[in-house]
Amino acid sequence: MTVIISVANQKGGVGKTTVALNLSYGLARRGRRVLAVDVDPQFNLTFGLIGMKVLDYENSNVGSLMTGEIRADEARAVVSKNLHLIPSHLNLSMKELDILNGYNRERKLHRALTPLLPDYDYVIIDTPPSMGIFLINALTASDYVVIPLELSYFGIIGMQLMFNLMEMIREETNENLRLLGLIPNKFTRQTTVPKTRLKELKEMYPNAPLLTTIPKAIALERAQALGRSIYDYGDARASKAFLRLTDQIISLVES
Ligand SMILES: Nc1ncnc2c1ncn2[C@@H]1O[C@H](COP(=O)(O)OP(=O)(O)OP(=O)(O)O)[C@@H](O)[C@H]1O
Ligand SMILES: [Mg+2]
Repeated sequence: MTVIISVANQKGGVGKTTVALNLSYGLARRGRRVLAVDVDPQFNLTFGLIGMKVLDYENSNVGSLMTGEIRADEARAVVSKNLHLIPSHLNLSMKELDILNGYNRERKLHRALTPLLPDYDYVIIDTPPSMGIFLINALTASDYVVIPLELSYFGIIGMQLMFNLMEMIREETNENLRLLGLIPNKFTRQTTVPKTRLKELKEMYPNAPLLTTIPKAIALERAQALGRSIYDYGDARASKAFLRLTDQIISLVES
């Protein structure tokens, strides 16, 4: 069975793409067959995985797939043996109206991905920081959500918006959607604030599982800009955290 996981948070800059990228690489390292899917018009995940080759996908990206212009197997980029990508493109935002006006608009991604599922163990979807049709399509297609967040006051309060959206998705389009967990990101021990916030997070949302905390590490930013995974970049702390997260997710969904 293929497991489909969306990486989501309506708040911008919290680490969705960083998690999608390094979780995809991590699962591929662990021998799983992974399809990464970028439904964010900012195409950061696409750029991180295939760099300037994004230009080759003007007419064969996740947007053309969702509008039915191409078949699913025509939109795949091969990153490595175990890791493939359905790219985004800067023209994705122009497809939004077509998708909104189409029939069954919340299920376009789910339908488009279905024929590809037998080829993969995991589908990891990176989503945009807004409550639009792309996020709704991603959550409708998913078995699980992981939510990266920053341990700031508004970061924690903002979780409620995500929980409300998930509840709406469960009622309207995908009753099976489950929260795999929250991923506290950019954690630092330089002050005691993040630790206090982590405690507040647990108190405020006692039913939300907490996954591995990811440390603040400049290497994550550098690796992403260079189109490399954290595992090849040589920052032991950050790569260890992402491998631990990967193994934790494998044990949660495969047991
Ligand atoms: N643990 C971390 N340590 C240091 N920098 C990080 C960490 N996680 C993410 N970053 C950096 O923070 C910035 C935002 O991260 P990222 O792009 O993953 O967030 P996002 O939630 O996908 O943003 P958007 O909402 O715009 O899609 C990037 O420059 C990224 O490299
Ligand atoms: Mg992003």
